[in-house]
Amino acid sequence: MAQVINDIGQMQGLCLRLRIEGKRIAVVPTMGYLHDGHVSLIREAKARADVVMVTVFVNPTQFGPGEDFTRYPRDLDRDVRIARGGGADYVFAPTVDAMYPTGFAAFVDVDRIANVLEGKSRPGHFRGVATVVAKLLNITQPHVALFGQKDAQQVVIVRRMVADLDFPVQLIICATVREPDGLALSSRNSYLTADQRAQAPVLFRALTLAGRLVEHGERRSSRIKGEMTELIKHEASCEIDYVSVADASTLEEQEECHGTLLVSLAARFGSTRLIDNIVIDVNGHHA
Ligand code: PAF
Repeated sequence: MAQVINDIGQMQGLCLRLRIEGKRIAVVPTMGYLHDGHVSLIREAKARADVVMVTVFVNPTQFGPGEDFTRYPRDLDRDVRIARGGGADYVFAPTVDAMYPTGFAAFVDVDRIANVLEGKSRPGHFRGVATVVAKLLNITQPHVALFGQKDAQQVVIVRRMVADLDFPVQLIICATVREPDGLALSSRNSYLTADQRAQAPVLFRALTLAGRLVEHGERRSSRIKGEMTELIKHEASCEIDYVSVADASTLEEQEECHGTLLVSLAARFGSTRLIDNIVIDVNGHHA
């Protein structure tokens, strides 16, 4: 079994010791309830480092009031088994009180790019994400940290934070892992009813449609977003939160598509909010 460490001081001490021994450390930050998307990150971490740390922490500061913090799925034993299976050496699972003791007051705010898309729908979300990622990087002192492209805006924000605050870490971003029908893997998929699960792949079909439209020369983002919205409304009874065609690095909405695009969307199936995205190179292929 991967060794489980709960104590911040113990984890930091271990990581500093490993560094002194010349070991290369990789960290995979997660909120647990691991799935194959996380396993792909852990495997990639194993290929790039001597020691792999998986952090499992459902971070309260990135959930807004009324969001799913209390019902977010938690199963540490299962996570430890899956992390170990993927090649993790240690699982770091601190308590909320240890991470946010009484009097905690230092937060990391990433300007502008944190206030659009997910940040607009979930005010304060990325302040919580940036703060906890900064803490996890300071605790584990990794050479490499791995994140999934599924949370595209999180990737842009963590990149910005790491660059602006000089964290000495290399970021590796891994492709979204999907079910055979295209649904992006997410711990939140476990909330879906059978009927919602059957409808949810429409999100990836809409993203794929955007890719095809660009490939066939469409450059007006209003048309692309319009067709995506129409497809989703036609095939699923979900509530669309947003459909966006933005510059992949600034996250500014584009009117006339050019360069590298982040096409992203969020929709609610009942009380379950799903997000997904693809990156499209207007002059080449999409990823
Ligand atoms: O992507 C996630 O699971 C979380 O946002 C992260 C990066 C572990 C921070 O809590």
